[in-house]
Amino acid sequence: MIELRSDTFTIPSKNMLHFMINAKVGDDVWEEDLSVNDFQKKFSKIFSMESALFCASGTMSNQIAIKVHTQPGDEVICDYNSHIYQYEAGGPSFNSGVSLNLINGNNGKLNKNLIESSIKKSNIHYPKPTLVSLENTNNKAGGTCYDINDLREISKFCKKNNINLHLDGARLFNAIIATDTIPSDYGLIFDSISICFSKGLGAPIGSLLLGSETFIKKARRIRKIFGGGMRQVGYLAAACDFAFDNNFKYLNEDHRRAKKIESVLKDLKYVKEILPVETNIIIFKVSNVKKFISFMKKNNILCESISTSKVRFVTNLSFDDNMLEKLIKKLKFYSKFDI
Ligand SMILES: Cc1ncc(COP(=O)(O)O)c(C=O)c1O
Repeated sequence: MIELRSDTFTIPSKNMLHFMINAKVGDDVWEEDLSVNDFQKKFSKIFSMESALFCASGTMSNQIAIKVHTQPGDEVICDYNSHIYQYEAGGPSFNSGVSLNLINGNNGKLNKNLIESSIKKSNIHYPKPTLVSLENTNNKAGGTCYDINDLREISKFCKKNNINLHLDGARLFNAIIATDTIPSDYGLIFDSISICFSKGLGAPIGSLLLGSETFIKKARRIRKIFGGGMRQVGYLAAACDFAFDNNFKYLNEDHRRAKKIESVLKDLKYVKEILPVETNIIIFKVSNVKKFISFMKKNNILCESISTSKVRFVTNLSFDDNMLEKLIKKLKFYSKFDI
């Protein structure tokens, strides 16, 4: 099978499993798991942030961040396409009692002017905006990346207006590669960052929440309340550490293959529209999504619909150049069926 539904389907390699079973572990609720402690320290340093907390999932990291940054009744400003709104099961209202002020950004991206104009005057009728949450890369908008200077401008505005700034960086490593930036660029801009190791990097589980010492101290307590205090979890932190050290370099390959797919799709008549491809996500419109997906499945290619008219491919660690060639053949062959 060729797996293009998401970059979350990858299976740990033998080398990763071998590395995992050799991890030094302890009780992480007591902060005594050496692998987790080392992992958290390593990435705080890489991102130039004071502290970090290992979490079970990207959703958990985002939800903890929202809880720490806000009070019930506050407002979180984010793009309409953001994962915290679209795919976290109403978590911001369920967990934190906040409302979301949704902005139609530019391909999933906000800018200072959009944020500024969405802020209501201070008035007892209105919720208080205390957090801006951005997503880089933006999943539902097709893996788009922010320009680092736009982020700096947003950060300056938020600081001036006493609003915290969170980054859902589930695929931040993809953005870092695609925009030729470095992790500390982001650490200096955001008050908190969540990053995932179980997407393009290929770990089976794991996310890190980064922030100041004070922020992470509060986050650790919220993680406990959410039931996310884990015990000998160093085995999993080791998988994430291995994933970063060994697979970061392959993200570029995922991006190259995604660009190639985009160029093939551009020449196919049955493809109505393609969102700009910047990283490992390709989103495009076809006239009959169900028919397209079922044709692909019959040909051992798995992909997903993200709406009634759009299909998504996500290139990933399990997808190689041979598979790319097979996919291209089938995409061209489908032209005969789309009548
Ligand atoms: C942008 C973004 N943020 C957060 C998440 C949540 O990650 P998890 O599935 O680990 O909860 C995802 C998952 O795909 C995502 O794409």
